[in-house]
Amino acid sequence: MTRVPLAIPNIGAREAELMNEAISSGFVSSVGRFVSEFETRFAEYVGAKYAVACASGTAALHIAMRLADIQPGDMVAVSDFTFMASSNAASYQFAELLLVDSDAESWCMDVDLLRKELERRKAAGEKLPKAIEIVHILGQPADVAAVVELAREYGIIVIEDAAEALGATWTSGPLAGRHVGTVGDMGAFSFNGNKIMTTGGGGMFTTDDEELARRAKHLSTQARMPDRGYLHDEIGFNYRLTNIAAALGVAQLERLDDFVAAKRAVAKRYNDAFAGTAIQTPPTLPGQESTYWLYSIQVPAERGPGARDELQDFLAEVDIESRSLWRPLHMQPPLKNEPLLGGAVGEDLFARGLSLPCSTELTEADQKRVIDRVHEWLQLNGG
Ligand SMILES: Cc1ncc(COP(=O)(O)O)c(C=O)c1O
Repeated sequence: MTRVPLAIPNIGAREAELMNEAISSGFVSSVGRFVSEFETRFAEYVGAKYAVACASGTAALHIAMRLADIQPGDMVAVSDFTFMASSNAASYQFAELLLVDSDAESWCMDVDLLRKELERRKAAGEKLPKAIEIVHILGQPADVAAVVELAREYGIIVIEDAAEALGATWTSGPLAGRHVGTVGDMGAFSFNGNKIMTTGGGGMFTTDDEELARRAKHLSTQARMPDRGYLHDEIGFNYRLTNIAAALGVAQLERLDDFVAAKRAVAKRYNDAFAGTAIQTPPTLPGQESTYWLYSIQVPAERGPGARDELQDFLAEVDIESRSLWRPLHMQPPLKNEPLLGGAVGEDLFARGLSLPCSTELTEADQKRVIDRVHEWLQLNGG
C-alpha cells in the first residue's frame, strides 16, 4: 500500500519548460522576464492593482510591516490562531502584539472581540494598534469587511495575511467577487512547497496603492537607487524572488483554477463522507468560497484530550499522513507575555484539529482509504 501524503506540489511539463527557458536565458536571479510577468499575471488573477514578488510569504509580510511604519513598541493586532510566520513579521519590527482569538464559525479573527477591546483602550487612553494583520486561515476568508470598517474608524492600517488562501473569494455581500488579500491596504501570499501553488519558496505582496507598490519593490531589492555608484537611500532587504522561481510561478498560475477546483472537490468528498458523523468539518460559510487549502477536521470533544493524536497515529499506522493544527500564538514561548483577547477558541482548534491528505492530485481511491480509516476510528471509539 502506498503512502498518502498530506499535500504535495503538482508540478508538470509546463513548469519544466518555463524553468528551462529561464535557465537557458542565463537570467537566473533578479533580472529576467519571468519576475515581472509573474507579478503582472498574479495581480490580474487576484484583482489587485499591483503585485511585488518576494522570496517568501514571510518576507512579503515583513515588507508590509515596514510600509505600515511599525516601529519598536508599536502595537500590531494579529490573529492568535495561525502559523507563527504571521506574527514573526511584526516581531522583526519589535512590535508589541495584540493577539485576537478566532470565532468558532470561521476559525478566523473574531472582529467583535477586537472592536470591544479598541473601544475599551480608547476610553482608557491606552495604546491602540497601528496595524491589524488578519489571517485567512487554511483557505477560509476572514471577515475583512468588518475589519476594514473598524480600522477606518480608528485610522489603523489593514494587512491581510492570505498566505494560505490564494484563490479564495467572497461570493455575496460587500466584497462579492473580490479575492482575499486584495481588500486591506496590503496583502501577502505564500508559494511555499505545500501551498496551493508553489515557486519552491516565494511570496507575493499586493496593494492597490502605487506608492506602496513602488516602495515594496524598492525595499525588497536592497533599497538600491538607479545610480551607477551603488546608492541606497534606506535599509532594504534581499527579499526578491529569483527569475527561475518566477518561471515556475507563471506556469503554476496558469493551472491555479484547476488546483482550486481540485481542492474544493476533495473537500466536498470529505464533507459528504463525514456528514452525520461526530467529525466536525471545516467552515463553509454563506457568501464566501474557501479553497480548503489544508482540509482540516475537528475530532469530537467527547473523545477527550489526546483523541486527535490517537487519530493521527491510527492514520499513520496505514501510511496516511496527517498534521495537527497549530498551537495558537499565545501558547508560543516567545509570545507568552503578549496581550491576548480570548484564546479558548484557538486552544480548542489546536487540541482537536487535524489536517487530512488533500493534494490536488489525490486520487478518489486514496481519499476513500483515508475516509474509511477515519470511519473505522470512529467505530472503534463508539461510533
Ligand atoms: C498564515 C501564514 N502566514 C505566513 C506564512 C509564511 O509564508 P512563507 O512560508 O512563504 O514564508 C505561512 C506559511 O508558510 C502561513 O501559513
